[in-house]
Amino acid sequence: MAAMVHGAQIVAIIVTLFLTSFSGCTLAADEDPLQDFCVADLTSQINVNGFVCKDPSAVKADDFTFTGFRNAANVTNTTNGFVPTPAFVQQLPGLNTLGLSILRSDFAPDGLNGPHVHPRASELFLVVQGKIEVGFVTSNNTLFSQTLEQGDVFIIPRGLVHFQHNIGGTAAVAFAVFNSQNSGVERLQNTLFGSGIPDAVLQKTFQLDVAIIDQLKKAFSTSTPSNY
Ligand SMILES: *[C@@H]1O[C@H](CO)[C@@H](O)[C@H](O)[C@H]1NC(C)=O
Ligand SMILES: *[C@@H]1O[C@H](CO)[C@@H](O)[C@H](O)[C@H]1NC(C)=O
Ligand SMILES: *[C@@H]1O[C@H](CO)[C@@H](O)[C@H](O)[C@H]1NC(C)=O
Repeated sequence: MAAMVHGAQIVAIIVTLFLTSFSGCTLAADEDPLQDFCVADLTSQINVNGFVCKDPSAVKADDFTFTGFRNAANVTNTTNGFVPTPAFVQQLPGLNTLGLSILRSDFAPDGLNGPHVHPRASELFLVVQGKIEVGFVTSNNTLFSQTLEQGDVFIIPRGLVHFQHNIGGTAAVAFAVFNSQNSGVERLQNTLFGSGIPDAVLQKTFQLDVAIIDQLKKAFSTSTPSNY
């Protein structure tokens, strides 16, 4: 299995990151920075929008470095054959206030990142291995979908429902770049059936038998919603 990311792919990712940060001057979903950097102090008890800055004299190159993408995640026997590895502000504190983050996605054959929304970021999705069907749905219910091959990029506008499905029959790897340090995610099945929305609301909404609603609630109430 090609676990390593190759040189050309790394260049592509870096170009992507630069483009995203430059366009961020006008389009950033997050606040613009007021200084060169504000490395997150993840231990501070002070609540601000984002994280307070670590003492600049204690900032090291490591604060701007993430090495967790070197190897493929283990997708064996995961629920949907999909494992996200995030480099958000929590994993990469140097991202604090920069309106930027990145995530590696590993897919087993037929692996699926099911319908979900990022409330705080647009997404730039780059396939570095395999063949992935992607799509998003607009606010007037139009589906824009595409089959991506290695090297292809697809844009998912902020806040729209989208999915990614590995249809290539082999392992697939992609990177998602977000114009937020913490894009947030709402997975539709967890949001609707795992959050405690009353049965009566769901029954009326979906026009379904209570038994089916209960079945859906049972399936998704215990699944742990992820941060990404
Ligand atoms: C991947 O996960 C499976 C199932 O949990 C486990 O059996 C296997 O040893 C893991 N493989 C590696 C390389 O860690
Ligand atoms: C994966 O799941 C299947 C079916 O539940 C099981 O038979 C198999 O032993 C599991 N493999 C690993 C490596 O956990
Ligand atoms: C919905 O949006 C699509 C894509 O922008 C457009 O082609 C279509 O005409 C719109 N439909 C309606 C009913 O507005």
